[in-house]
Amino acid sequence: MSYPREYESSLQRTEAFWLKQAGQLHWFKEPSKACQLKANGTADWFADGELNVSFMALDYHVDNGRGDQIALIYDSPVTETKQQYTYLQLRDEVALFAGLLKKHHVKKGDRVVIYMPMIPQAAIAMLACARLGAIHSVVFGGFAPHELAVRIDDATPKVVVTASCGVEVNRVIPYKPMVDKAIAEAVHKPANVMVYQREQCHADLTQPGDLDWQAEVAKVTPAECTVVPSTHPLYVLYTSGTTGKPKGVVRDTGGYAVALKYSMQTVYDIKPGQVMFTASDVGWVVGHSYIVYGPLLAGATTILYEGKPVRTPDAGAFWRICSEYKVAVLFSAPTAFRAVKKEDPEGKLLEQYDLSSLERIYMAGERLDPPTYEWTTEVTGKPVYDHWWQTESGWPICANPVGIAEHPIKPGSATLPMPGYDVRILDYKGQEIAANEQGAVAIKLPLPPGCLTTIWNDEARFVSGYLREFDGYYSTGDGGYKDDDGYVFIMGRTDDVINVAGHRLSTGEMEEVLAKDTAVAECAVIGVQDSLKGQVPVGLVITKDGVTISDDELSSRLVQLVRDEIGAVACLKKILVVPRLPKTRSGKILRRVLRQIADGEEVVVPSTIDDPTCIDEIRERLS
Ligand code: COA
Ligand code: AMP
Repeated sequence: MSYPREYESSLQRTEAFWLKQAGQLHWFKEPSKACQLKANGTADWFADGELNVSFMALDYHVDNGRGDQIALIYDSPVTETKQQYTYLQLRDEVALFAGLLKKHHVKKGDRVVIYMPMIPQAAIAMLACARLGAIHSVVFGGFAPHELAVRIDDATPKVVVTASCGVEVNRVIPYKPMVDKAIAEAVHKPANVMVYQREQCHADLTQPGDLDWQAEVAKVTPAECTVVPSTHPLYVLYTSGTTGKPKGVVRDTGGYAVALKYSMQTVYDIKPGQVMFTASDVGWVVGHSYIVYGPLLAGATTILYEGKPVRTPDAGAFWRICSEYKVAVLFSAPTAFRAVKKEDPEGKLLEQYDLSSLERIYMAGERLDPPTYEWTTEVTGKPVYDHWWQTESGWPICANPVGIAEHPIKPGSATLPMPGYDVRILDYKGQEIAANEQGAVAIKLPLPPGCLTTIWNDEARFVSGYLREFDGYYSTGDGGYKDDDGYVFIMGRTDDVINVAGHRLSTGEMEEVLAKDTAVAECAVIGVQDSLKGQVPVGLVITKDGVTISDDELSSRLVQLVRDEIGAVACLKKILVVPRLPKTRSGKILRRVLRQIADGEEVVVPSTIDDPTCIDEIRERLS
């Protein structure tokens, strides 16, 4: 089938199209209907279908002759460990850990928070929750205890699963003290904390409810799969919004499984038995979809990599993995390739490795800037694809549909909307605008299978945050345009979300932290362009009258505060103490103006501005 026919078919013959895709998976009860519209314009997918996604991802393959195939490869240069799990071994480990969760009363619908480094047990814990119908919520290991506490209070988990430590470049980070601190801060108290002990650092299990993963699984029996309805939540994944409170994106089970299986074929063209290397973290959506669920649903082999693109030990790390495990598809964020390019600009390290198995390279998480695209294409000689998606969508919204028909690459574009996504470019009134003109990128409702169904505990926020701006559309929060060929160019966020090294962060949240400091009268955090990380946050601060602390001292104190409250991953390293910020006459900080200054764009000075002279002042300080 050609792409236009497939795309049209997904939008015009939705029922038949998605039921056909659903038929590629093993359901316990096949769905009779695909799309059931809801009052808010979104849809329930495959509502009368029943399944277990852990069964689909593991047991099904074991029962169908893939038991001895490698399902997961763990490669950890930071601990010098390599380990492989066949589908049978992974299924058995998952069933055993599910047995442990079950022994501690975790059942269908209960939440389990997973705060873990990139070790196989993180994936095992996720799949074990799915086996029981429990809802996992993975929290990225780079977040500080306060962030974990906020998520514990929102998700109210019965159990927290963690490891004794994470291992970053040249440092071991004990996790258990951070979990203890988070639980002490949280109002909700989980009944148990299950700790996987790593040899790099042993955790003391002294709190009531603490359990040692290894000792406890030795005592339990494996758990069977719990059948759940398609609409049952598989997970809640918190992502940054424009305020300090993260949004718990809720993913259903059946729609997500169908969408991922479909994307493995159409976007990544991965066949069963092929190897996919997604260099991300299970704490992000990329990790959920294409380290854990997607490759396993497809009967492929996934690589779980505990390391960096550089410094573990060098900029040849990705190429070593691709050659050692005969990787067919490599996926990471542009920032990772910029880091490699910086250390090995001519791609000399690549010459040491045989990349003949590598078919394609994918990038997402931020816009693939044309220089990084060109460099990667040149040094590897492989096709390099940008594709655009979000935590909310769960799978690519725009991509090069190589599994249907490869399309010419246009640097700077994420290519075409994937079947199921009716992508439109709208003006501020919600009217569609002409080709090549920039506007808000929106998706006509209903969203296809796999996308968020609500915000955990906050349907009102789901509606107000995504469905209100344009009647009948989902607002993506991104700006961009379509060209004459329908190619989509995503140019950046239109709100206060920034992307730092492929990590999505909220400037509003950082502002809330800075504002807690007793010396700070007012502040704004903006994302400024960075040649390695894409964007980095910079804080602009006005001090209270009478504050005597030096600017340098205050700056270090605020940098440390954000690190302690949000985590090292926030990467706020620069604070500028300024006398004034651009504001409206009613006192509102003009963030759009600040963003334009930071991006070096021409500043559109609003007529409501109180004092336009501060624009040059800030521009000078930022340069
Ligand atoms: N646990 C604890 N700390 C963590 C962490 C984790 N899981 N992940 C990152 N951190 C810490 C880092 O150690 C670093 O601390 P430091 O300021 O003390 O050095 C800080 O958070 C910032 O991390 P990061 O943004 O990753 O910067 P880096 O300099 O260590 O590495 C890159 C830069 C570009 C190599 C790295 O960000 C990278 O590989 N990014 C790629 C892609 C990616 O994973 N994207 C996600 C979506 S696809
Ligand atoms: P996250 O939810 O962390 O996946 O971040 C989603 C946001 O990252 C999107 O809304 C975009 O702003 C940005 N993003 C992700 N992929 C791309 C891409 N390929 N091109 C441009 N922006 C992207």
